[in-house]
Amino acid sequence: MILVLDFGGQYNQLIARRVRENNIYCEVHTLTDGEIKSDKNVKSGLGTAINFDAIKNLDLEGIILTGGPQSVYKENASLPPSELFSLNVPVLGICYGAQAMAYVLNGKVKTAEVSEYGKTELEILSESKLFAGVEKKSVVWMSHTDRITNLPENFIATAQTENCPIAAAENPAENLYAVQFHPEVLHTAEGKKILSNFVDICACKRDWKMDTFVSDTINNLKNKIGDGKVLCALSGGVDSSVAAVLLSKAVGKNLTCVFVDHGLLRKNEAAEVEEVFSNYNLNFIKIDAADRFLSKLVGVTDPERKRKIIGEEFIRVFEDVAKKIGAVDFLVQGTIYPDVIESGLGKSAVIKSHHNVGGLPDFVDFKEIVEPLRLLFKDEVRQAGRELGLPENLVSRQPFPGPGLGIRIIGEVTAEKIKIVQDADAIYREEIAKAGIAPQLGQYFAALTNMRSVGVMGDGRTYDSAIVLRAVMTSDFMTAEAAQLDWNILNIVANRIVNEVKGVNRVLYDCTSKPPATIEFE
Ligand code: XMP
Repeated sequence: MILVLDFGGQYNQLIARRVRENNIYCEVHTLTDGEIKSDKNVKSGLGTAINFDAIKNLDLEGIILTGGPQSVYKENASLPPSELFSLNVPVLGICYGAQAMAYVLNGKVKTAEVSEYGKTELEILSESKLFAGVEKKSVVWMSHTDRITNLPENFIATAQTENCPIAAAENPAENLYAVQFHPEVLHTAEGKKILSNFVDICACKRDWKMDTFVSDTINNLKNKIGDGKVLCALSGGVDSSVAAVLLSKAVGKNLTCVFVDHGLLRKNEAAEVEEVFSNYNLNFIKIDAADRFLSKLVGVTDPERKRKIIGEEFIRVFEDVAKKIGAVDFLVQGTIYPDVIESGLGKSAVIKSHHNVGGLPDFVDFKEIVEPLRLLFKDEVRQAGRELGLPENLVSRQPFPGPGLGIRIIGEVTAEKIKIVQDADAIYREEIAKAGIAPQLGQYFAALTNMRSVGVMGDGRTYDSAIVLRAVMTSDFMTAEAAQLDWNILNIVANRIVNEVKGVNRVLYDCTSKPPATIEFE
């Protein structure tokens, strides 16, 4: 395992994902002086924050120190102890991590005369295992205001940029490496190669593979659950679907999956989910609750009230089914690794109250939670789904919010409006798929505005609704850029929607990034 020690930089999860792409298991933890919690669902058995004693007890092949917003020389800066560099384990410091390494080993770090931000040319100065096979000059991503000015003893500078004479440094005898740039970001042309070289320096076996993860997980679940009864709330999204299939392979008919169709799903989605799961050996219960949800939403226009009503009704429906099923031993949750990392961090202001199955345990009689995806990043969950034979349209499904189309219809939700947004969205998704651009987009969907406007169709006047199309590029969904979709594609979609969807006479495109807008409309 490679340990990623998180100092608060924005690309830290990306570092772990890039390491895992090399088939090495890694965990992200923050460093603390205090008590540590345990988490038996991750391999190390440790919660998000760990202290140096815990690190010493881990069987590590390498350590990566991440970037972060602090200055190493300021009071209260979070710094690793100098002993971390004498564990006989290779260490790679990135950005703040590089400065922290230099600083605690008695080098000097100061505010840079010129701070660098963005793509910068890097020149390699000397032979280095870290740069094996890397072009002598290449583009790297920089984002720093401090820099290393004096190296610790036995370190040599191995690369420079125009404004940063020590853009990389190392003590090769001790396997300590420091890079001021961000190899984890795709803008760094040779970043993948550099991280792969570090994995070689760590002499890792590269055996973290999805096929072994899947078979190991199924075996572990079999051992853990035995003859126990398991309940899973299936949303039709990637995480809960992969979790359900893993469980079904482990316990078969002892698993009951409850799929609540709140009537706010995308076109044909409920039928698709039902069809996929009819192929598995499990108890699949589909609840058609559209009328229940719709009647609760009559006259409701406030976004937060809509979210609360849908979330609460979901729990109520699930509770009714759970009562009928009776006590179970295990409840499945589709928690994935970013949730694990993020739950350890302070949360900022609530912009929207999120709806997901996290609220369910209070209402179900169960003994323990199982979270079979707790170790995986989203792309790994998709890969596991492929290993398990789930169809590609389900595995590569974009995120879909718990309250569904309820928050993509501005204003009151009615059956007619649901149909309009479903049909428009289906056309939009179909054309995006035809154009082959879906993999470049983080999320794309149609929403129904509460605006009506005048149009002309044939010889007649219309006074109909406006559909708004959204497509965003994002890696973390916390920030997003509006995608610059090809005008021809937008044109085809707009024409098709106006012609094929009754009640729509105008199609708009949302060019706003997040922030200041959010991805969803409510
Ligand atoms: P926003 O609109 O906050 O969305 O920019 C960020 C991401 O979160 C998804 N989203 C949700 N996911 N339950 C979920 O499971 C929710 O209540 C919810 N609301 C928004 C949204 O689709 C986007 O991917």
